[in-house]
Order: sequence, then C-alpha cells, then structure tokens
Amino acid sequence: MILVTGGAGFIGANFVLDWIAHEGTPVVNLDKLTYAGNPANLASLQNDARHIFVKGDINDRALVADLLKKHQPHAIVHFAAESHVDRSINGPGEFVQTNVVGTFSLLEETRAYWSGLGDAEKAGFRFLHVSTDEVYGSLGSNDPAFSETTAYAPNSPYAASKAGSDHLVRAYHHTYGLPVITTNCSNNYGPLQFPEKLIPLMILNALAGKPLPVYGDGRNVRDWLYVGDHCAGIRAALARGKPGETYNIGGNSEKTNLEVVHAVCAILDELRPNSLITHYSSLITYVKDRPGHDWRYAIDAGKIRRELGWEPQERFDSGLRKTVEWYLAHPEWVDSVQTGEYRKWVDANYAKR
Ligand code: NAD
Ligand code: TYD
Repeated sequence: MILVTGGAGFIGANFVLDWIAHEGTPVVNLDKLTYAGNPANLASLQNDARHIFVKGDINDRALVADLLKKHQPHAIVHFAAESHVDRSINGPGEFVQTNVVGTFSLLEETRAYWSGLGDAEKAGFRFLHVSTDEVYGSLGSNDPAFSETTAYAPNSPYAASKAGSDHLVRAYHHTYGLPVITTNCSNNYGPLQFPEKLIPLMILNALAGKPLPVYGDGRNVRDWLYVGDHCAGIRAALARGKPGETYNIGGNSEKTNLEVVHAVCAILDELRPNSLITHYSSLITYVKDRPGHDWRYAIDAGKIRRELGWEPQERFDSGLRKTVEWYLAHPEWVDSVQTGEYRKWVDANYAKR
C-alpha cells in the first residue's frame, strides 16, 4: 500500500494510473479536489479495488493520521500542491497554505506514524516529495543546467512555496531521520493537464479559434518532459533512491515558448485542418509578460541516470503529438474541466494583458 497526495491532479493521476499498471499494488489517494483535481482523471479505476480515493486536505491532520493508521502505507508520494505560477502571482496565500503548511502537516503526521513502526518497516519506509526545478530560479542563456547542488533562488510565490516545502522535507531527514527523497522536475506535458498551463491552453485555444497568448517575446526557455517519463523517474527514486538525497528529473529538451506553440500549431494544422484558419500559428498574439518571468530552466539529469538508471524515453516531437491526439480524442474531459471556475480564471488572467 502506498499513500499518494494530489493524485487527482495532472501528474498525480498519471502516476496513480502508471503505478497500478506497473506495480499493481494498492494506492490510497488523498486529494482535496481543488479546481485542478478531477475525479474523471481516474474514471478507469472506478471499479478497481486497488484505488481508494479519499477527498480531503493534507492540512486535515486528524484525517491524515487516521489514513496512515488504517492503511499502514510503506511509502507516501506527495504531489498535492497549488502548482500554477500565474495563480501564485494573483493570489499567493493558498500556495503558502497548501505547499508550505500542508507539507509541514503531512510531515508531522508522517513522523508520528513512522516513529511507531518496527525497525524493518521504519528502514523501508519512504516519503517521496515531488518538487520542481523552479526552486533554483532562472538561468541565463549560456549558464550550465541546474544540478542537485545548484543554490536555491526561487523567484515566484509558487517557486518560493515549493522551496519552503523542500527545506522542511530535508530538515525532517536531518533532524528526525525520516527517510525522505526529493525529486525536482522540469516542465511536464501530456494527457490530463489542466488547460491553464502552456501546452493544453494553446491546443484548446487554437481549436476554439481564439488568440494564442504568448507572454513577452516568447523566447523564454523551458525543459519539457513527458509526464509518463516523470512517473517512471519517481518510481525509480522510490525503488532505488537513497534516503536524504535529491534527484533532478528533466527531459533534455529545451525549447523556447514560441517553438512549443509553433509545434502545437503544426500538429493541429495536420490533424485538425480548419478551412477558416490557414495556419493555426496565425492566432499567435503577444501579450504582456508575466511579472518576474524566469528566463530559462534546464535540468542536468545526470545523477538520476548514473545512480538509478533512469532516462526519458519519449522525444518531444512524439510526446507532443501524443498529447495533442489525446486532447482531440477527449472532448468530454475538456468540457468537464472548462467549468465556470475555469472561465473566471481565464477572464482574470488574460482580460487585461
Ligand atoms: P495540479 O495542479 O494539476 O494538481 C494538484 C493536485 O493537488 C490537485 O488534484 C489538487 O486537487 C490537489 N490539492 C491541492 N491542494 C491540496 C490540499 N491542500 N490537499 C490535498 N490535495 C490538494 O499539479 P501537477 O501539475 O499535477 O503537479 C503535481 C506536483 O508536481 C506539484 O507538487 C508540483 O509542484 C510538482 N511539479 C509539477 C510540474 C509541472 O510541470 N506540472 C513540474 C515539476 C513539479
Ligand atoms: P506554464 O505552463 O505556466 O509553466 P511554468 O510557468 O511553470 O514554466 O508556462 C510555461 C511557459 O509558457 C512560461 O514561460 C510562461 C509561458 N506562457 C505563455 O507564454 N502564455 C500562457 O498563456 C501561459 C499559460 C504560459
């Protein structure tokens, strides 16, 4: 049994599906179902006894204590977070509450549970904290990629709240001996991603014939990783990672935002030609930049490759094509996430840009 937090979100849901497919052992999935959590992501597990879904907050310590006592997990994989940089700029409070205080609550209850385990169970237990490369700040165009020893320099409220959670996780290992592992991963893309993030937003806007809002000049660089590769990296870290260590996970696939948007448009031109729009790229619209917009992220994933034998399997072009195909094939999923709450966000973020 493992306990996953945030398993109804984008990466968490992909991880739960991947875990059941590869490991086949039961998962308790604790998720608050914020705007980003969607039970439809796990509809295929509806009648599968190996998936136990619990709607709840990681800050609900009585609930967390109860779940740990009842299910006796040998690992916790902690995804639950507020995850969108633009939302953290518009309202940072929730980011501190979930990412910092929530991780603290989870660590406290985990420590209490873990302290009561027998020696063998204690040694085998893992708390895997899923974090981001954004804690390292921003790179210049010619800087070397982030490694595990790069100093933390978070720039957005999101990145700062994740950095705070990483520090707490680290401290629980050094102070209390809790067997923690932290993974810091680059930008993910793939099926089930909420359409507030770059790639699904561009796919869905293009299909609706709406402008494709590129922040600034579109030359900011991100290192893209297919979500299935991230899930495999987490499984490798859980199985073979050393407690107290951190592992950077990245796709070795740096692209400017404009390259990404043009690539999405080219796939749509081919798969969903539109007689009214000769090329979807004609919808690209430059809008006001994100405040404090990090210039470039890049991950040196050498440590996880050398020590745990993990490497990304998907190339960006094939992964992006799969992703576009998935959105085209799942209009009912798209409808279900484009609720009133989602439309309010789109108005708040883009209306005045
Ligand atoms: P997401 O926003 O799609 O999903 C987050 C999930 O957490 C949702 O299901 C939500 O309901 C749940 N949640 C939020 N607050 C909660 C709370 N207080 N208690 C319980 N559940 C709560 O996020 P994602 O993109 O799947 O990211 C998952 C994790 O991976 C995050 O920790 C994020 O920082 C990290 N990460 C994301 C990326 C990326 O590119 N998306 C890259 C690196 C790391
Ligand atoms: P995003 O998907 O929000 O991820 P992150 O900010 O965590 O890297 O954004 C990826 C890049 O795309 C980032 O440089 C901001 C840019 N971007 C746009 O240009 N337009 C948009 O509408 C969005 C959502 C992002």
